[in-house]
Amino acid sequence: MLKRWSAAVVGGVLLLGALGACGGEKSDDAGSGTAPKGDKKIVLGFAQVGAESGWRTANTKSIQDAAAAAGIDLKFSDAQQKQENQIKAIRNYIAQKVDVIAFSPVVESGWDTVLKEAKDAKIPVILTDRAVDSKDTTLYKTFLGSDFVVEGKKAGDWLVNEYKGKTDPVNIVELQGTTGSAPANDRKSGFADAIKGSPNLKIIASQTGDFTRAKGKEVMEAFLKANPKIDVLYAHNDDMALGAIEAIEAAGKKPGTDIKIISVDAVKDGMTALAAGKINHIVECSPLLGPQLMDLAKKVVAGQSVEPRILTVESEFTPEQAKAALPDRKY
Ligand code: AHR
Repeated sequence: MLKRWSAAVVGGVLLLGALGACGGEKSDDAGSGTAPKGDKKIVLGFAQVGAESGWRTANTKSIQDAAAAAGIDLKFSDAQQKQENQIKAIRNYIAQKVDVIAFSPVVESGWDTVLKEAKDAKIPVILTDRAVDSKDTTLYKTFLGSDFVVEGKKAGDWLVNEYKGKTDPVNIVELQGTTGSAPANDRKSGFADAIKGSPNLKIIASQTGDFTRAKGKEVMEAFLKANPKIDVLYAHNDDMALGAIEAIEAAGKKPGTDIKIISVDAVKDGMTALAAGKINHIVECSPLLGPQLMDLAKKVVAGQSVEPRILTVESEFTPEQAKAALPDRKY
């Protein structure tokens, strides 16, 4: 799990990339990259989580663009947020004898068997974005992505500071990401840890919204019905916060004022809501992992050693910072 990595060697790089939509199972060999003429292209099988959020769409586009730019033959599959689909896709890549497999595990547990199959087939595996809880870390070469515990902690620290010096009870509702996923587990624990020294900050309800806008709206409607006094919403991603904003407005309340909102990601729609004062604070989680992934793929295929944990560099945004960043925001 991520906590295991917090003290590990890191090599963070800020990435640039473009955006777009992701599709189903397909080969994305764009043929326009930098692979030397005559050399066999590296074949990378990538098993994506799904298309559940703006973040995921930007992540998929970053990977597709970076593969084309690097001259890597990308085989891409969309698991529609189901672990069994991801396992099936990985087994297909093993059967196809791809050079390297990468995936963003939908949940943390249950990967050992398929990872062992890849290892036995001598196909290196790279984890991107999300971690697995396998004890045997030789089952994959590296894990490239954010520290979700730190993201949750940043969200909690912001809230503690916001209510500094106040002792009145503050009722918090939490929209969790996909149950069992690393970002849901870690953003929850990081946030809880940050607020634990402030007994007036209380999480009164916490439920999964599966990282989607529709589920975020639905769960927030239920929270509003069951709890007459909600002061704060902590959403594990922007999409759920955006769905919740619709529910809050439909209930006749003002998001950002009647209910303060903190979320994670900093995708364009989230940043727009932050700039408009409907979200109060966003912790960034960068989806632009494509270029680093392609570098790593080339290295592991060449048998070079890579750092076991590579962290993404990220920041946080206030409404003013969102206004300034929005004109150049690509995703
Ligand atoms: O794993 C990263 C998370 O997955 C993003 O924060 C969320 O938006 C996405 O669905």
